[in-house]
Amino acid sequence: MSDSTSLLIDPARLPAYLGEAAGRFNVISLAECESTNTLLMDRAADGAPSGTVVVTDRQTAGRGSRGRHWMASPEASLTFSVLWGFPGGLERLSGLSLAVGVAVVQALEDCGASGVMLKWPNDILFGHAKLGGILVELHAEPDTAMAVIGIGLNLRLPETIGEPSVAALPAAALQQIIAAPPERHVLFAQLLVELARAFDRFAAGGFAALRNDWHARHAWQDRPVRLLREGRVEKEGVCAGADADGALLVRTADGIERCLSGDVSLRPL
Ligand code: BTN
Repeated sequence: MSDSTSLLIDPARLPAYLGEAAGRFNVISLAECESTNTLLMDRAADGAPSGTVVVTDRQTAGRGSRGRHWMASPEASLTFSVLWGFPGGLERLSGLSLAVGVAVVQALEDCGASGVMLKWPNDILFGHAKLGGILVELHAEPDTAMAVIGIGLNLRLPETIGEPSVAALPAAALQQIIAAPPERHVLFAQLLVELARAFDRFAAGGFAALRNDWHARHAWQDRPVRLLREGRVEKEGVCAGADADGALLVRTADGIERCLSGDVSLRPL
Protein backbone atom coordinates (compact mmCIF):
# COMPACT_ATOMS: atom_id res chain seq x y z
CA MET A 1 0.00 0.00 0.00
CA SER A 2 1.21 3.53 -0.70
CA ASP A 3 2.29 5.90 2.05
CA SER A 4 -0.73 8.12 1.38
CA THR A 5 -3.24 5.42 2.38
CA SER A 6 -5.99 6.75 4.65
CA LEU A 7 -8.02 4.44 6.84
CA LEU A 8 -9.23 7.24 9.05
CA ILE A 9 -11.74 6.38 11.76
CA ASP A 10 -15.10 8.06 11.10
CA PRO A 11 -16.44 9.17 14.54
CA ALA A 12 -20.03 9.10 13.21
CA ARG A 13 -19.79 5.31 12.80
CA LEU A 14 -18.72 4.64 16.39
CA PRO A 15 -21.95 5.11 18.44
CA ALA A 16 -23.47 2.05 16.74
CA TYR A 17 -20.70 -0.07 18.27
CA LEU A 18 -20.16 1.79 21.53
CA GLY A 19 -23.57 1.07 23.08
CA GLU A 20 -23.93 2.66 26.52
CA ALA A 21 -20.37 3.96 26.39
CA ALA A 22 -21.21 6.24 23.43
CA GLY A 23 -22.00 9.24 25.63
CA ARG A 24 -18.72 8.95 27.50
CA PHE A 25 -16.37 9.71 24.61
CA ASN A 26 -15.87 12.57 22.19
CA VAL A 27 -13.72 11.19 19.38
CA ILE A 28 -11.62 13.49 17.20
CA SER A 29 -10.17 11.82 14.13
CA LEU A 30 -7.12 13.37 12.46
CA ALA A 31 -5.32 12.38 9.27
CA GLU A 32 -2.02 13.35 10.88
CA CYS A 33 -0.63 14.80 14.06
CA GLU A 34 2.68 14.92 15.88
CA SER A 35 1.58 12.53 18.60
CA THR A 36 -1.90 11.88 19.95
CA ASN A 37 -0.46 11.92 23.47
CA THR A 38 1.28 15.27 22.96
CA LEU A 39 -1.86 16.75 21.45
CA LEU A 40 -4.10 15.55 24.28
CA MET A 41 -1.63 16.71 26.95
CA ASP A 42 -1.84 20.19 25.36
CA ARG A 43 -5.63 19.98 25.22
CA ALA A 44 -5.76 18.82 28.84
CA ALA A 45 -3.78 21.91 29.85
CA ASP A 46 -6.35 23.99 27.91
CA GLY A 47 -9.20 22.36 29.87
CA ALA A 48 -10.40 19.64 27.47
CA PRO A 49 -12.95 17.41 29.21
CA SER A 50 -12.54 13.81 30.33
CA GLY A 51 -13.54 11.46 27.53
CA THR A 52 -11.80 13.41 24.75
CA VAL A 53 -10.18 10.91 22.37
CA VAL A 54 -7.79 11.57 19.49
CA VAL A 55 -7.27 8.86 16.89
CA THR A 56 -4.98 9.38 13.95
CA ASP A 57 -3.83 7.75 10.77
CA ARG A 58 -0.30 9.00 11.11
CA GLN A 59 1.95 10.43 13.83
CA THR A 60 4.97 12.46 12.78
CA ALA A 61 6.58 12.24 16.23
CA GLY A 62 4.93 9.28 17.94
CA ARG A 63 6.36 8.61 21.37
CA GLY A 64 7.03 5.32 23.13
CA SER A 65 8.08 4.69 26.69
CA ARG A 66 11.56 5.73 27.89
CA GLY A 67 11.76 8.49 25.30
CA ARG A 68 11.74 6.10 22.34
CA HIS A 69 10.06 6.85 19.02
CA TRP A 70 6.88 4.98 18.17
CA MET A 71 6.61 4.04 14.51
CA ALA A 72 3.22 3.30 12.97
CA SER A 73 1.55 3.36 9.57
CA PRO A 74 -2.16 3.86 8.80
CA GLU A 75 -2.80 0.47 7.22
CA ALA A 76 -0.85 -1.44 9.84
CA SER A 77 -1.69 0.30 13.09
CA LEU A 78 -4.37 1.66 15.36
CA THR A 79 -3.04 4.77 17.09
CA PHE A 80 -5.01 6.77 19.63
CA SER A 81 -5.08 8.48 23.02
CA VAL A 82 -7.84 8.98 25.58
CA LEU A 83 -8.05 11.79 28.13
CA TRP A 84 -9.72 10.63 31.34
CA GLY A 85 -10.26 12.36 34.68
CA PHE A 86 -10.08 10.49 37.99
CA PRO A 87 -11.17 12.01 41.29
CA GLY A 88 -8.32 12.87 43.68
CA GLY A 89 -4.65 13.56 43.24
CA LEU A 90 -2.08 12.08 40.87
CA GLU A 91 -0.94 9.62 43.57
CA ARG A 92 -4.26 7.80 43.05
CA LEU A 93 -3.16 6.83 39.53
CA SER A 94 -0.35 4.41 40.30
CA GLY A 95 -0.96 1.21 38.40
CA LEU A 96 -3.18 2.89 35.81
CA SER A 97 -1.10 1.69 32.84
CA LEU A 98 -1.45 -1.89 34.09
CA ALA A 99 -5.21 -1.45 34.38
CA VAL A 100 -5.23 -0.15 30.81
CA GLY A 101 -3.36 -3.29 29.74
CA VAL A 102 -6.15 -5.42 31.22
CA ALA A 103 -8.73 -3.44 29.22
CA VAL A 104 -6.79 -3.80 25.97
CA VAL A 105 -6.39 -7.57 26.34
CA GLN A 106 -10.08 -7.90 27.28
CA ALA A 107 -11.12 -5.95 24.18
CA LEU A 108 -8.94 -8.12 21.96
CA GLU A 109 -10.42 -11.23 23.58
CA ASP A 110 -13.93 -9.82 22.98
CA CYS A 111 -12.90 -9.63 19.31
CA GLY A 112 -11.79 -13.27 19.21
CA ALA A 113 -8.11 -13.11 20.19
CA SER A 114 -6.52 -15.54 22.60
CA GLY A 115 -2.99 -15.76 23.93
CA VAL A 116 -2.48 -11.99 24.25
CA MET A 117 -0.54 -11.27 27.43
CA LEU A 118 0.97 -8.35 29.32
CA LYS A 119 4.54 -7.53 30.22
CA TRP A 120 5.08 -5.08 33.04
CA PRO A 121 4.66 -2.19 32.87
CA ASN A 122 3.22 -1.35 29.46
CA ASP A 123 3.80 -3.98 26.76
CA ILE A 124 1.08 -5.99 25.06
CA LEU A 125 2.57 -9.28 23.93
CA PHE A 126 1.75 -12.21 21.73
CA GLY A 127 4.26 -14.92 22.52
CA HIS A 128 7.57 -13.10 22.92
CA ALA A 129 6.67 -10.43 20.39
CA LYS A 130 5.19 -6.98 20.95
CA LEU A 131 1.64 -6.46 19.71
CA GLY A 132 1.28 -2.99 21.16
CA GLY A 133 2.25 -0.49 23.79
CA ILE A 134 0.68 1.86 26.28
CA LEU A 135 1.97 5.30 27.29
CA VAL A 136 0.23 7.00 30.22
CA GLU A 137 1.01 10.64 30.98
CA LEU A 138 -0.52 12.75 33.74
CA HIS A 139 -1.84 16.26 34.17
CA ALA A 140 -3.01 17.55 37.56
CA GLU A 141 -6.16 19.66 37.93
CA PRO A 142 -7.62 20.80 41.27
CA ASP A 143 -9.40 17.72 42.77
CA THR A 144 -8.95 15.73 39.55
CA ALA A 145 -6.07 13.75 38.14
CA MET A 146 -6.19 13.83 34.35
CA ALA A 147 -4.52 10.96 32.52
CA VAL A 148 -3.65 10.78 28.84
CA ILE A 149 -3.68 7.14 27.88
CA GLY A 150 -1.96 6.47 24.57
CA ILE A 151 -2.30 3.12 22.85
CA GLY A 152 -0.56 1.86 19.74
CA LEU A 153 -1.60 -1.52 18.35
CA ASN A 154 -0.07 -3.40 15.45
CA LEU A 155 -2.82 -4.65 13.15
CA ARG A 156 -0.59 -5.89 10.36
CA LEU A 157 3.10 -6.42 9.94
CA PRO A 158 4.77 -3.97 7.57
CA GLU A 159 8.48 -3.34 7.83
CA THR A 160 8.43 -0.39 10.18
CA ILE A 161 6.17 -0.61 13.20
CA GLY A 162 6.72 -0.63 16.91
CA GLU A 163 9.93 0.63 18.43
CA PRO A 164 12.95 0.61 16.16
CA SER A 165 15.35 0.45 19.10
CA VAL A 166 17.92 -2.30 19.57
CA ALA A 167 16.35 -3.10 22.90
CA ALA A 168 12.96 -3.59 21.27
CA LEU A 169 11.09 -6.85 21.18
CA PRO A 170 10.19 -8.30 17.78
CA ALA A 171 6.79 -7.12 16.53
CA ALA A 172 3.56 -9.12 16.46
CA ALA A 173 0.33 -8.08 14.73
CA LEU A 174 -3.35 -8.78 15.22
CA GLN A 175 -3.61 -10.42 11.79
CA GLN A 176 -1.44 -13.26 13.19
CA ILE A 177 -3.79 -13.81 16.11
CA ILE A 178 -7.34 -13.47 14.77
CA ALA A 179 -8.18 -15.30 11.55
CA ALA A 180 -10.75 -12.66 10.52
CA PRO A 181 -9.79 -9.48 12.44
CA PRO A 182 -12.69 -7.11 13.13
CA GLU A 183 -13.16 -4.02 10.97
CA ARG A 184 -11.18 -1.21 12.60
CA HIS A 185 -14.24 0.80 13.82
CA VAL A 186 -15.50 -2.33 15.60
CA LEU A 187 -12.11 -2.96 17.19
CA PHE A 188 -11.62 0.69 18.17
CA ALA A 189 -15.11 0.88 19.72
CA GLN A 190 -14.51 -2.32 21.69
CA LEU A 191 -11.26 -0.89 23.02
CA LEU A 192 -13.11 2.23 24.19
CA VAL A 193 -15.88 0.14 25.80
CA GLU A 194 -13.37 -1.92 27.78
CA LEU A 195 -11.35 1.17 28.68
CA ALA A 196 -14.46 2.84 30.13
CA ARG A 197 -15.15 -0.30 32.20
CA ALA A 198 -11.58 -0.46 33.45
CA PHE A 199 -11.57 3.28 34.26
CA ASP A 200 -14.73 2.85 36.36
CA ARG A 201 -13.23 -0.07 38.27
CA PHE A 202 -9.97 1.82 38.72
CA ALA A 203 -11.76 4.97 39.93
CA ALA A 204 -13.62 2.90 42.53
CA GLY A 205 -10.81 0.68 43.78
CA GLY A 206 -7.49 1.64 42.20
CA PHE A 207 -5.30 -0.96 40.54
CA ALA A 208 -6.13 -3.40 43.37
CA ALA A 209 -9.57 -3.82 41.77
CA LEU A 210 -7.98 -5.14 38.56
CA ARG A 211 -4.93 -6.83 40.01
CA ASN A 212 -6.20 -10.42 39.71
CA ASP A 213 -7.15 -9.79 36.08
CA TRP A 214 -3.67 -8.45 35.42
CA HIS A 215 -2.02 -11.45 37.10
CA ALA A 216 -4.10 -13.80 34.94
CA ARG A 217 -2.67 -12.11 31.84
CA HIS A 218 0.85 -11.45 33.08
CA ALA A 219 3.23 -13.21 30.69
CA TRP A 220 5.95 -13.70 33.29
CA GLN A 221 3.85 -14.56 36.33
CA ASP A 222 5.83 -17.02 38.52
CA ARG A 223 8.58 -17.21 35.89
CA PRO A 224 12.32 -16.78 36.56
CA VAL A 225 13.64 -13.37 35.50
CA ARG A 226 16.74 -11.22 35.54
CA LEU A 227 16.44 -7.70 36.93
CA LEU A 228 18.45 -5.16 34.95
CA ARG A 229 19.31 -1.70 36.21
CA GLU A 230 21.02 0.67 33.77
CA GLY A 231 21.48 -2.26 31.40
CA ARG A 232 23.37 -4.41 33.94
CA VAL A 233 22.04 -7.60 35.50
CA GLU A 234 21.43 -6.76 39.10
CA LYS A 235 19.56 -9.74 40.45
CA GLU A 236 17.78 -12.91 39.50
CA GLY A 237 14.46 -13.99 40.92
CA VAL A 238 10.94 -15.14 40.26
CA CYS A 239 8.23 -12.75 39.12
CA ALA A 240 5.60 -12.56 41.83
CA GLY A 241 3.19 -10.21 40.07
CA ALA A 242 2.36 -6.61 40.90
CA ASP A 243 1.34 -5.02 44.19
CA ALA A 244 -1.75 -2.88 44.72
CA ASP A 245 0.17 0.19 43.47
CA GLY A 246 1.25 -1.55 40.27
CA ALA A 247 4.90 -2.01 41.33
CA LEU A 248 6.41 -5.27 40.09
CA LEU A 249 7.38 -7.81 42.75
CA VAL A 250 10.35 -10.11 42.20
CA ARG A 251 11.17 -12.79 44.75
CA THR A 252 14.98 -12.91 45.04
CA ALA A 253 17.42 -14.63 47.41
CA ASP A 254 17.43 -11.37 49.43
CA GLY A 255 13.64 -11.20 49.73
CA ILE A 256 10.96 -9.45 47.69
CA GLU A 257 12.29 -6.72 45.42
CA ARG A 258 9.75 -3.99 44.60
CA CYS A 259 10.38 -2.46 41.20
CA LEU A 260 8.92 0.88 40.18
CA SER A 261 8.17 1.69 36.59
CA GLY A 262 11.20 3.12 34.84
CA ASP A 263 13.89 1.96 37.25
CA VAL A 264 14.33 -1.62 35.96
CA SER A 265 14.09 -3.82 32.89
CA LEU A 266 13.34 -7.52 33.04
CA ARG A 267 14.62 -10.38 30.93
CA PRO A 268 13.50 -14.00 31.09
CA LEU A 269 16.12 -16.36 32.53
C1 BTN B 1 5.62 1.77 24.36
O1 BTN B 1 6.77 2.20 24.24
O2 BTN B 1 5.38 0.56 24.42
C2 BTN B 1 4.46 2.72 24.40
C3 BTN B 1 3.97 3.04 23.03
C4 BTN B 1 2.80 3.99 23.02
C5 BTN B 1 2.46 4.45 21.62
C6 BTN B 1 1.19 5.24 21.59
S1 BTN B 1 0.62 5.48 19.94
C7 BTN B 1 -0.59 6.60 20.52
C8 BTN B 1 0.05 7.44 21.59
N1 BTN B 1 0.74 8.58 21.02
C9 BTN B 1 2.06 8.51 21.18
O3 BTN B 1 2.87 9.36 20.77
N2 BTN B 1 2.39 7.39 21.84
C10 BTN B 1 1.21 6.63 22.20
